[in-house]
Amino acid sequence: MSADLFSRPQVAPSILSADFTRLGEQVASVMDAGARVIHVDVMDGHFVPPITIGPLVLEAIAGQIHDAGGFADVHLMIERPERHVEDFAKAGADSITVHYEATPHVHYALSKVHDSGCRASLAINISTPPDVVAELVDELDMVLCMTINPGWGGQKIVESSFDKLERLSRILPDRVPIEVDGGIDPETAPRCADSGARVFVAGSYVFGSDDPPGAYHQIASSLGL
Ligand code: DX5
Ligand code: ZN
Repeated sequence: MSADLFSRPQVAPSILSADFTRLGEQVASVMDAGARVIHVDVMDGHFVPPITIGPLVLEAIAGQIHDAGGFADVHLMIERPERHVEDFAKAGADSITVHYEATPHVHYALSKVHDSGCRASLAINISTPPDVVAELVDELDMVLCMTINPGWGGQKIVESSFDKLERLSRILPDRVPIEVDGGIDPETAPRCADSGARVFVAGSYVFGSDDPPGAYHQIASSLGL
């Protein structure tokens, strides 16, 4: 999947809030509506309290995502992510995001992601200052700015995120898009865009809706897409 997908804004539905009894159908519904980035949230019960999914579930949907011209955006909320990068790359990840707070060896973890053939992205939690990305810019294809505390969908966006996004976008070159994750809806997405975000993860707003394609369109049109 071409990297220039990220030269324009993308709404990335997060399957965390999908109905897993019909996951393929749910993914197809938002891709038919125009989504090209599918966000996959992996949690280990250590870095964050919940346990969600692993490479097997990614593998089950990766072919479908790629066949539809899409991109599997894997967000690892797990400790020592460098130990698992290879498994997710083999399962079909196109981008792998590791958390700054999840390993003492962030640079090494990002280089493992590159070595696996995936785009490398770094996530920072609410309390992590944006400046930490400065030392790592050369290793980064994307930065994920958490706009909630990771672990659960359906939370309200943390208001200090907007100012933080502005500071982050002053540090990063244009080739490194900023992804926002948490509390994204048609009201908060344009505010994040005004503060510098280019990729908008949306879980509960899309899949918690009775009409996921319609909800996807609402966020997309709030961004002028
Ligand atoms: C939470 C996950 C998010 C989650 C966002 O830790 O990283 O991707 O799906 O959910 P909403 O859009 O409901 O805030
Ligand atoms: Zn996420």
